[in-house]
Amino acid sequence: MKTVDEVIEVIGKIPYMTREQAVRMTDLIRENRLERVLELGFYHGASTSFIANAVSGFANGSVVCIDKERARTMEPNVEGLLERLGLRDRARVHYEPTSYLWRLMKMLEEHPEPVFDLCYLDGAHNWFVDGFAFFLVDRLLKPGGWIILDDLNWRYEDSPTFRGSETLRNMPVEERECFQLRNVFELLIQRHPAYGKFREEGNWAYAQKLPGVSAVAGAGVGAAQLKTLTVVKETKVGMGEALIKLGRRLGMR
Ligand SMILES: C[S@@+](CC[C@H](N)C(=O)[O-])C[C@H]1O[C@@H](n2cnc3c(N)ncnc32)[C@H](O)[C@@H]1O
Repeated sequence: MKTVDEVIEVIGKIPYMTREQAVRMTDLIRENRLERVLELGFYHGASTSFIANAVSGFANGSVVCIDKERARTMEPNVEGLLERLGLRDRARVHYEPTSYLWRLMKMLEEHPEPVFDLCYLDGAHNWFVDGFAFFLVDRLLKPGGWIILDDLNWRYEDSPTFRGSETLRNMPVEERECFQLRNVFELLIQRHPAYGKFREEGNWAYAQKLPGVSAVAGAGVGAAQLKTLTVVKETKVGMGEALIKLGRRLGMR
């Protein structure tokens, strides 16, 4: 297994996962022996590279990653990066015509029992897609497994990618201005009886599926366990995030 810096030396600086996030991800995987990882949204495959490297320390460690068909022709692309690292055999890569939601359906058909120890969700950041994705992931996540959400404070309104786009023009203002992934975390995951150990760190949210809780029969069991939310403050924030934080401190929602 390489260090995070050795991985960066091989793949170069590629969006999006930062060095700091890669270190956090690697530590979480290693410390909790999270051998089987599901990744939703890989883009060039920077995050996949760090995850594949982290699980390569386990005999059967692997990552299954899903993105849209367009990720196949990225330069570099996920498979190229994994080849460079000598980790191609650690990853199963899926390119989907429409959405990871479809591939998750196929995985559920294939696996009646939960199979993953960790899901890294860094895809649509959209309530409609990722709200549903959470419930599908839940069925595939083992008790004791973790889910990490990236870009908790992302919204369409601030996105340079969507600026001036037809998607944005046609979107109701409320949807544009909503931190949709944050709502997935706060309204769906934090309120789910089978999840606990909530933590916010920078733009990431973590939750653990409580050990001893099955995907379907979660209600009641998790509720009896202590639930806490830890918020780790960021050192660097942009203007948009600073305003959100100020708003939250003032009790605005
Ligand atoms: C921020 S990028 C992922 C970055 C990557 N995790 C990293 O850190 O290197 C988000 C990715 O999610 C993908 N995505 C968005 N919605 C998706 C969907 N519904 N199904 C599959 N992929 C999706 C996009 O194509 C894009 O490549």
